[in-house]
Amino acid sequence: MTETIHFPSNFTWGVATSAFQIEGAAAADGKGPSIWDTFSHTPGKIIDHSNGDVACDHYHRYREDVALMAGLGVDAYRFSMAWSRVQPAGKGAWNEQGFDFYARLLDALQERGIAPHLTLYHWDLPKGLQDDGGWMARATAHRFADYAHEVARRFGDRLATIATHNEPWCTANLGYGNAQFAPGVADKKQAIQVSHHLLLSHGLAMQAMRATGTRAGLGIVLNQWTADPATDSEADKRLAALEWANSIAWFMDPIFKKRYPELSLQAHGSVAPDVHAGDFDIIAQPLDFLGVNYYRREVMSAEVPPRKPEGGNGFTDMGWEIYPQGLTELLVQLKADYPDLPPVYITENGMAAVDALEGGQVDDQVRIDYVRTHLEALKAAMDRGIDVRGYFLWSLMDNFEWNSGYAKRFGIVWVDYATLERVPKASALWYRDFIARQRRDRRAA
Ligand code: FCB
Repeated sequence: MTETIHFPSNFTWGVATSAFQIEGAAAADGKGPSIWDTFSHTPGKIIDHSNGDVACDHYHRYREDVALMAGLGVDAYRFSMAWSRVQPAGKGAWNEQGFDFYARLLDALQERGIAPHLTLYHWDLPKGLQDDGGWMARATAHRFADYAHEVARRFGDRLATIATHNEPWCTANLGYGNAQFAPGVADKKQAIQVSHHLLLSHGLAMQAMRATGTRAGLGIVLNQWTADPATDSEADKRLAALEWANSIAWFMDPIFKKRYPELSLQAHGSVAPDVHAGDFDIIAQPLDFLGVNYYRREVMSAEVPPRKPEGGNGFTDMGWEIYPQGLTELLVQLKADYPDLPPVYITENGMAAVDALEGGQVDDQVRIDYVRTHLEALKAAMDRGIDVRGYFLWSLMDNFEWNSGYAKRFGIVWVDYATLERVPKASALWYRDFIARQRRDRRAA
């Protein structure tokens, strides 16, 4: 039960969002188009035919949203900057009106004592850079470092942490591997090359930000899962090992071990990435923190058709298996494979549920159970020696869930898309009370 979990007194409790999913104001005040603007306006790409033009209109309602966060009593807010809002073409001129928006947001957070945790890139590449080849172009990594430098120079003293990328696995594999996400390419070789350019851009951005002397903690956010064999068969175990190598070690090894995993390189064969001499020295910058986004595990089966996870704890509205113990197993495995693991933040965790607003309330007990059991699993990992500093619930509010549009609700606050009214769900009130209890227990201790 929640009453029995006690997190350390300096543990950070937060909520998370990203720019394209909530801001709207797609062309306001000099903002340039991003690949998600063009992708979401391309017929057939978004399940409910929606786009991000208005989204939650956070650009105009950020004060109300910060007040909501203050009401929850969170310590911290993780959000992302829309690159094309502050540099419309992704190169060249900066847009002061864009920076002004983020300065106002930081002011509002500061007034409420909420620590800002910024992500530089949550998938919305400026269209101007896509026109130059997007992440397939090595030069984009250098443009990203320029952007990172400018943001750290302007805001570095106001931010608690800055993450370079959010989930480069998705940018590469969903953006370039299976075309589910912008820019909508389906080409394995490109996906693998893009993943290398993303890692390179991370390293270059880390160097550029360090050069500003910022005191903000610098790191990266990776989406991670455990890969479990469906059965004890050798074939399933081999698949599970390959999945771990391709999805987890592929991003961790370059950063912590200056190499790509051998298993993956062998499997990729001729589609292995083009790596220049010195790239790994750039990529392997020391991190102040690692952000881990955890939603589910992978169950690997070599059978035809593949065995499905049993799903004893059920599945979310995304069809993702609910598997809280995977979070403990993941963190323990990371520490085993990477003994120099820096402090970890769980930068995203949460679920899509079939919510309904009834009598002015949303009774999302299923989400409360999801968060509670994942917090128990997180605490279990901490009790086994993993240094975890904070937890950010995804998401503060319902928002544009990428190719699912507004059809999937991840928020602890309900958004009525017709009126843009926000209504805290039962999970928001639960999270508020949970945080308050942790504080009370902190004081009593
Ligand atoms: C993650 C993304 C986030 C959101 C959640 C549900 O992969 O980082 O933007 O879509 O999934």
